[in-house]
Amino acid sequence: MTTLRITINGRAYGPMDVRDDLTMNDFLRESLGMTGTKFGCGAAQCLSCAVIVDHPDGTSSTSPTCVVPAASFDGKAIRTVEGHAKNGELSALQKAFIEHFAFQCGYCTPGFLNEAQVLLERLARAPVARADLEKTITEALDGHLCRCTGYIKYHEAVRSVILADPGRYLVAKVDR
Ligand code: FES
Ligand code: FES
Repeated sequence: MTTLRITINGRAYGPMDVRDDLTMNDFLRESLGMTGTKFGCGAAQCLSCAVIVDHPDGTSSTSPTCVVPAASFDGKAIRTVEGHAKNGELSALQKAFIEHFAFQCGYCTPGFLNEAQVLLERLARAPVARADLEKTITEALDGHLCRCTGYIKYHEAVRSVILADPGRYLVAKVDR
């Protein structure tokens, strides 16, 4: 057993005792009833189970949850798909996913949403040139599998959010 303290979507949970073999995915879905985080391959191959981890230095990244013990998240702050909408208002990414028909069955969507959010936060810290944007999005979403093959629509949705606020996410064009 491990005593777990964790912050999820800004809310503190614990201290609570968790079995050492309890995965983070089971902790979220079974212990907390937060079923927005999906379970796909169960082998760290599809990332449908990915959540956002907020690091002390202000950066963020995603982590699979299917093969990772809940206990290893002790002391950490994470975000799940349930945390994106604020006061009932969908995030810009969520709206773009809908507007671009980015998902079909939706099973992979929480993972794509979390990855895209991490990308937005990275670009807000370190903008890229417009010429590098397509490659940047492709590389960021790489590793997320969609059995309904919605890759292009996800890509277009993420691009639309970035292009809607170029001053925030892109390096300013220099006039010569
Ligand atoms: S369910 Fe975790 S990577 Fe596929
Ligand atoms: S929308 Fe069905 S798996 Fe991606």
